[in-house]
Amino acid sequence: MGDIDYNERIPNNVDLSSDRRLQRALERWQPAYLDWWQQMGPEGWQAKDVYLRTAVRVDRGGWAHFDYVRMPEYRWGIFLTDNDPDRKIGFGDHEGELVWQEVPGEYRNMLRRIIVTQGDTEPASVEQQRILGATAPSLYDLRNLFQVNVEEGRHLWAMVYLLHGYFGRDGREEAEELLARRSGDEDKPRILDAFNQPCTDWLTFFCFTTFTDRDGKYQLGALAESAFDPLSRTCQFMLTEEAHHLFVGQTGIERVLRRAVQLAALDPNGDVRDMGGIDLQTVQRFVNFWFSYSLDLFGSEVSSNAADFFAAGLKGRWKEDKYEEHSALERSMNIPHLEGDTLVDKAVPLRIAMNEVLRNEYVEDCQKVVDKWNKALRDEGEATFEITLPSTRFHRRQGLYADASFAPDGSPISASDFEAHRSEWLPSDEDRAYVRSLMTPVYEPGQMASWIAAPRKGINGQPLDYEYVRI
Ligand SMILES: [Fe+2]
Ligand SMILES: [Fe+2]
Repeated sequence: MGDIDYNERIPNNVDLSSDRRLQRALERWQPAYLDWWQQMGPEGWQAKDVYLRTAVRVDRGGWAHFDYVRMPEYRWGIFLTDNDPDRKIGFGDHEGELVWQEVPGEYRNMLRRIIVTQGDTEPASVEQQRILGATAPSLYDLRNLFQVNVEEGRHLWAMVYLLHGYFGRDGREEAEELLARRSGDEDKPRILDAFNQPCTDWLTFFCFTTFTDRDGKYQLGALAESAFDPLSRTCQFMLTEEAHHLFVGQTGIERVLRRAVQLAALDPNGDVRDMGGIDLQTVQRFVNFWFSYSLDLFGSEVSSNAADFFAAGLKGRWKEDKYEEHSALERSMNIPHLEGDTLVDKAVPLRIAMNEVLRNEYVEDCQKVVDKWNKALRDEGEATFEITLPSTRFHRRQGLYADASFAPDGSPISASDFEAHRSEWLPSDEDRAYVRSLMTPVYEPGQMASWIAAPRKGINGQPLDYEYVRI
């Protein structure tokens, strides 16, 4: 087990050739996928050789093979982690029963909705990022963008396999719809709001991969606990790919911050923008924007859907094992509710608060990333400025806090107060125009754009001046 068969038209480790109907259905979807990729994948780079990794095994160590590939020839396929025949359901009403290899009829609709919602984010991010190849700050970054893009394409394959394999005709129709919606489209937008936001500059890309891909990490982690075993095994392998996306975001922002401090030291007035860099306050505003948009992806703080998903065993908590009590029936969680203009803690039964439980895990993880950024700022000699995460109530469009205004510290304020501070807290048109003005491509091997520091090391042990993309 674990080995992937690359002789097949669709590479896989699920013995696809033993199920001719499924194989044929997926082989019919494949050309539609490739059409979509040609149309909506990285613009202008489809014919170039890119130094990419491809999965060759699914175990945690050493699963990747690196080589030059033209993106449309990337071997997208279906990779699940190995099967554990004794695996038991770890939470909810079915705790302790054997996991399911088929979808129970009563959970079919819920499960399909979960898979479609996750699946929709994958092509959406490729669409959002499709023009970034025109302005990469280095060949190293350009290659990382394309690695993220092809793997998001593979994540779409992962979800489409489940839809085709376990949901019959409905599943096949949903798989077609996943190629029909478009990020930001007025008539057929992607399902979730963060995935309809434009991503046209690299500061945005690094924020997106830090905060929005990290939402993906937590959603996949919760689904890796699922009683529906094929979903669990699919998500486990997706998580190992996701780690690189998070690395790209975290180190990208860190390099922008380092460069800002270096440039401030070179300017007589300490003005980073005068030196062609991105000042720390602007980075903070982009962080505020993407952190808050990504928080919305977890859903409402109080949610009967979340309770149903947990009860049914479809979606667990992040690392459910580390919790002591897996029914989640005995506890509650205090969640501040706005009453008039004050916040009042209310005890919410834990199952109904499951979105908030997962969001809190996510926020903790984000804080660790921010701590690393602040350490990098100290290392560069920045004495006072720190990046901070705003409150989870700030700038929300979903959930309990969507209809009111809150300052970054979480205190309730009036809508007019919020507007008065908007350009201090969130990227202004002027900020965005400035950042966009810096976006000129740097495609000499080893060279970096002025606004970003060089990474510490190359990809897969290669030197920094390696030709990561053959121009
Ligand atoms: Fe993904
Ligand atoms: Fe990702």
